[in-house]
Amino acid sequence: MHNFEDILDFCYNETGENKLITTINGRMNVMQCIQEIKKDVYWIGGNDFSTERFENMLPLPNGVSYNSYLILDEKTAIIDSVDASIRVQFLTNAKYLLQNRKLDYLVINHMEPDHCAALVDLVEMYPDVKIVGNAKIFTFFEQFYGKPCPDNYVTVGEGDVIDLGRHKLQSFKAPMVHWPEVTVTFEQTEKLLFSADAFGTFGTLNGNIFADEVDYEAVYLADARRYYSNIVGKFGPQVQLALKKLLPLGIEMIAPLHGPIYRTPETIQYIVGKYNAWSSYEPEKKACLLPLHPCMAIPQLLPMLWPINWHCAASLICGCMTYPKPIHPSLLPKLGSIAT
Ligand SMILES: [Fe+2]
Ligand SMILES: [Fe+2]
Repeated sequence: MHNFEDILDFCYNETGENKLITTINGRMNVMQCIQEIKKDVYWIGGNDFSTERFENMLPLPNGVSYNSYLILDEKTAIIDSVDASIRVQFLTNAKYLLQNRKLDYLVINHMEPDHCAALVDLVEMYPDVKIVGNAKIFTFFEQFYGKPCPDNYVTVGEGDVIDLGRHKLQSFKAPMVHWPEVTVTFEQTEKLLFSADAFGTFGTLNGNIFADEVDYEAVYLADARRYYSNIVGKFGPQVQLALKKLLPLGIEMIAPLHGPIYRTPETIQYIVGKYNAWSSYEPEKKACLLPLHPCMAIPQLLPMLWPINWHCAASLICGCMTYPKPIHPSLLPKLGSIAT
């Protein structure tokens, strides 16, 4: 447990007025939850188990995590913040790691509310912090908060580097992955890509933070695919451009803003492969979808499809199996060979 008075100092002002608790329905969590993911680089995010729909739209049966990262070097830096739902947890984590050090840099890759809700808190806690972003990010920052602080801004362009000491943060634009202002940050020493929403997934981090610690395909893949298709699915060409630009950097770790971190060549290759397929609209498995009207009977339709290809036939049969009519007996011998 972190020093309780220290946290309360921040949560209440001199008059005892509550600064934070009103926004989290009276709940307050002051136990830090951090994990070192590379030397002096820490995950300081948290899980959201209670929001029912992401962006009030997409169901979250498995919750979602909001990731943020803190680097302790000659200079200190936080990469993105979190959603309001875990704001106190996040600020507790940041304050616990920084102890009495100041925060030198606050790097903003993405200004969507699920990642920017605690930015102003950090600026209030560390008024001298340099806020790193591109011009669009600062426009959004001022529109969202109505609290311009131009003296704090450090505008970065494509390839610009912020030097923290051993760690060097290089900025790359990734527009429309997921919003127009999006950048990603590549830490050159550890070859660590802070990828913003890219490579993220729905689903909380349940005790393991790295993709190689879980059965990713069983636990996260469906949510990762659903996340991709709903968040950046229509921006395939932009994702392709970002992949072409970033992959030659020799990435050894991917730290997204949602879901597990990829640290092994196998998991990096796996998720990059999926993104490559999804963004180029290539099927993961070859099949075809045939909308089937219930009045069609399989025996009459199948001979027409047989010459097309086996995958079509397989899809048809799979689709028909959901229709409440028995499969025609003449098809049963074919099912085994189609399934293979
Ligand atoms: Fe986003
Ligand atoms: Fe996000």
